[in-house]
Amino acid sequence: MNELTTVEKVTITLRVNGEERAVSVEPRWLLSDVLRHELGLVGTHVSCEQGVCGSCTVLMDGQPTRSCLQFAIQAAGSDIVTIEGVTHGEGLTPLQRAFAEHHALQCGFCTPGMVLTAQALLDKDPNPDEESIREALSGNICRCTGYQSIVDAVMAAARTTQSRVEED
Ligand code: FES
Ligand code: FES
Repeated sequence: MNELTTVEKVTITLRVNGEERAVSVEPRWLLSDVLRHELGLVGTHVSCEQGVCGSCTVLMDGQPTRSCLQFAIQAAGSDIVTIEGVTHGEGLTPLQRAFAEHHALQCGFCTPGMVLTAQALLDKDPNPDEESIREALSGNICRCTGYQSIVDAVMAAARTTQSRVEED
């Protein structure tokens, strides 16, 4: 191979959905591509690749993060949650169930990013008002639903979680 095109790979370790993963990456590779192509986590959807649509959102150390704007090496040592890891192997989360019940998805392309962004909001504020939900989701674009059903789903999930807490 031409000397100019040879790129040294580096091995990084990161925690993905609760599991330590070591992966060999070129420094220019994006986190979104590494999740999808190296780790097979294709629930992380990629559309604009410019940080605009939010479809590639994952949780990085608990924060909603656009994985198309991060180099994988920037995520070394981080704790990453993708849509595949949001359930902890226990079936759908209350938020995912609410998305289904409130028809908050149609084609589903935006849904992983929406769910992870909304989950991060609910983790921080278990009882958000509609304005806070709209603000939190304002960077996630959906071309199908018109948004109201997504907001309704997040509010319903918050109510379900609140009533469970009160019962316990
Ligand atoms: S694909 Fe990352 S924000 Fe659109
Ligand atoms: S459900 Fe199709 S883009 Fe949101």
